[in-house]
Amino acid sequence: MSAPVRAVVLAAGKGTRMKSARAKVLHQLCGRTMLWHVLRALRDAGVGEVIVVTNREVAPEVAAIAGDAGLGAVRAVLQEPQLGTGHAVQVALAQLAPREGSLLVVNGDMPLVESELIARTLAAREHALALVTARMPLPSSFGRIVRKDDAVERIVEARDATAGELELDEMNAGLYAFDEAKLRRAVAELKSDNAQGEYYLTDAVAHLRQHGERVVPVVAEDYRSVLGVNDRVELAQAAALLNGRLCEQHMRRGVSIADPATTYLEPDLTLEADATILPNTAIGRRSRVGAHAEIGPNSRLQNARIGAHAVVADSVVVDSEIGDFALVGPFAHVRGGSEVGTGVRVGNFVELKNAKLAPGVRAGHLSYLGDAQIGERTNVGAGTITCNYDGVAKHRTAVGKDAFIGSNSSLVAPLEIGDGALTGAGAVVIGDVAAGARVVGNPAKPLPKRVPGQRL
Ligand code: UD1
Ligand code: CA
Repeated sequence: MSAPVRAVVLAAGKGTRMKSARAKVLHQLCGRTMLWHVLRALRDAGVGEVIVVTNREVAPEVAAIAGDAGLGAVRAVLQEPQLGTGHAVQVALAQLAPREGSLLVVNGDMPLVESELIARTLAAREHALALVTARMPLPSSFGRIVRKDDAVERIVEARDATAGELELDEMNAGLYAFDEAKLRRAVAELKSDNAQGEYYLTDAVAHLRQHGERVVPVVAEDYRSVLGVNDRVELAQAAALLNGRLCEQHMRRGVSIADPATTYLEPDLTLEADATILPNTAIGRRSRVGAHAEIGPNSRLQNARIGAHAVVADSVVVDSEIGDFALVGPFAHVRGGSEVGTGVRVGNFVELKNAKLAPGVRAGHLSYLGDAQIGERTNVGAGTITCNYDGVAKHRTAVGKDAFIGSNSSLVAPLEIGDGALTGAGAVVIGDVAAGARVVGNPAKPLPKRVPGQRL
């Protein structure tokens, strides 16, 4: 068994073209930072140990991002000042005990990179350098691959290229598998006599060739999967590509997506076969959607768990669970650890916060149920509000099963309402209500016991 592959991720650059106070690799697409996507691809390619070259802003974030991407052995090193990609590699190598074999180097701003390409690069690593390139119609600011008799000779950065070199349509992707010892010798001799006054990692190619080493190109099939993101226009383009890729994966596994262009997904979602996603819908933060559920249009799920056959229309569900066959929306907001039971109906302009609705509950219109528990089959009338906050602390409301909460009831917590109890329309309930009791008015007072067939 060979030792696990080591990788260096270059993520210290200022990213001036983003025009942002935030470091470039911390900008997000599809709900995760650029750095997250790169680390996830490395993990999926089987890379065991990663060093991230960072600046002061990125360094403190690395552990959390790596943990979320599922990579344990990740270390951040500081590169200060940032004198170019070659200098970044020098800084990383100074922190790594020399080892025989290869070292992967990846630009931290290529969030579309796929693990298959990384694996292919690693497979070609018996040479001094396996260099990932791509054919691209107009490589704009990317480094150009200069070949001689088909062999890779050197890389010329766009800003240093002649007009003739700018015509070259093969670009440098920013993903390399070096023989580590040869890389150490090459980066030690880099010079900064170029248009940007930086130490270019890309100059290592010419250095290796001058020492008679072979550089094997690994040509990516689709240049779009190796695009570096340098500004916000490219970030939006990369996000659209990545989102399209995520939608496609789920559609191939049996999820219907009516309009991928207005469906916004993140990695690590569980969408079961025969779920349907309608337009203008965003699903994120490890949400799960059950079979035959229908989400959207115009909906947002964050850390939500939606049961089979449930419907969430024009609604927002955050940190909450929706049971099988439940109907949510249009225009509901379910949040804060709420649990909506099987077959529950939560309708127009209803907000739930930390509320547990047992199976069969109906809360169809204009309600706020916070810190509440509602028993099976209870009907919550239009306009019912749990007054859970007294200005100092939050209090709980518990309503039993088969109760009837009249329209516009104000339930002043802490409060318990028993099974089968009833509150009249407009009741302001400030004290507990016994099972089967009926209360009306403000403040609500009991009515005499109900005779069979009598309405309130
Ligand atoms: C680089 C390549 C170019 C390639 C392109 C692919 C060099 C010199 N050029 O150009 O050939 O086509 O990527 O996207 O390598 N970084 C550091 N420290 C630094 C400078 C940069 O860590 O001092 C990091 C950046 O954060 C970034 C990556 O290295 O993640 C690439 O740097 P960037 O400045 O974006 O290089 P490009 O000009 O895009
Ligand atoms: Ca770049």
